Amino acid sequence: MVENRAAVVSLGRGFWTVTVVLGLLSIVGIYYWITAPMDRIMPVVGAQPGEQVDELLRFMAASGTALFIYVAGYIVYFCFAFRAKATDGPDAIGVQVHDNNVLEFWWTLIPTLFVVLLSILSVRIWYQIQVAQPANGLVVESLGHQWYFTFRYPQVNGEVTGEMHLPVNQPVVLNVTSSDVIHSFWVPAFRLKADMVPGLINTIRFTPTVIGRYPIICTEFCGTDHGIMNAQVPGENGKPNPGAEYVVVDSPADFQKWYHGWQVKNASASNALPSTSGTISLAGGDAAAGQALFAQKCSACHALGPFSQRIVGPGLKGVLHDPSHPNLVDGDPANPADAAKILQQGYTGDMGHMPDATQNGISDKDIANLVAYLASLK
Ligand code: CUA
Repeated sequence: MVENRAAVVSLGRGFWTVTVVLGLLSIVGIYYWITAPMDRIMPVVGAQPGEQVDELLRFMAASGTALFIYVAGYIVYFCFAFRAKATDGPDAIGVQVHDNNVLEFWWTLIPTLFVVLLSILSVRIWYQIQVAQPANGLVVESLGHQWYFTFRYPQVNGEVTGEMHLPVNQPVVLNVTSSDVIHSFWVPAFRLKADMVPGLINTIRFTPTVIGRYPIICTEFCGTDHGIMNAQVPGENGKPNPGAEYVVVDSPADFQKWYHGWQVKNASASNALPSTSGTISLAGGDAAAGQALFAQKCSACHALGPFSQRIVGPGLKGVLHDPSHPNLVDGDPANPADAAKILQQGYTGDMGHMPDATQNGISDKDIANLVAYLASLK
């Protein structure tokens, strides 16, 4: 197909004028993104490599703006420059352009170089977050639950709830996973995000650099109360919602104080992996420990009101002493052994689904404590 080569040389009368105008508009757009105050769009950077992430965003936004202005501008320009003329017949088609090797060379080379440059800039940051090993990193774990986050520290038994404290200027290795469904751990001020996937551990590395309190947000839809896993979402009656959790960056002294507080508070907490089979001994169940655990593990789905006060599962007030509900949801008589069985094995049926003890991260001892607590609710 070589006919009509000569017909395709024209770009239209105003092409170079339009090109210059689009160039000026692009310069304005690029200038905006280079100088834009990032803290108007996002929170102040509280950890490194957050600033490099911002620089990458500036670069992408600036080049994307220029690209958009040129592509959209030329589309509009060509629509007018080569619109059908009144004299064209009803079957007329436009000039068919093909085999322009010079043009094809450049429109392949320029985007390729751009994507390569973008990859190099991205991989540099990715390497720091994923691979680079800090010399004296503090290893912290976070678990996603429906619908809250918990945290584990090297010298603290059990789980820490509510706030994740970190010392300023010390590198952190954060391993995240989930105990039930997929969540995603996001601290906007750190510019970091990692999916929390059951059975998979994702790792991110960063160094908190600014003392402060930063909201954690779950960014993966994880069930009915996904929205409360966001510290910026207010709870009912002006109270903080149960999933409102923060990263708190402390001075080293404040961190040690907080850390020691949890070591004492959790001194007798269980680290044991829960067992999921066999009969659970309910002797020695501690209702007070069960109450604390209930607040951590159960209250997102169970109210302490009557049976009909349902959140996800039924209200559990007086669950073992309720004449109007002599049986538990699985149809067995309401007694401590059967309550323990549901806690151990989970439940799936008319009332919905409750994960088993392994998924909920509770040990046999925890179950005994929870049953003692439930039994004490009259
Ligand atoms: Cu957890 Cu969304």
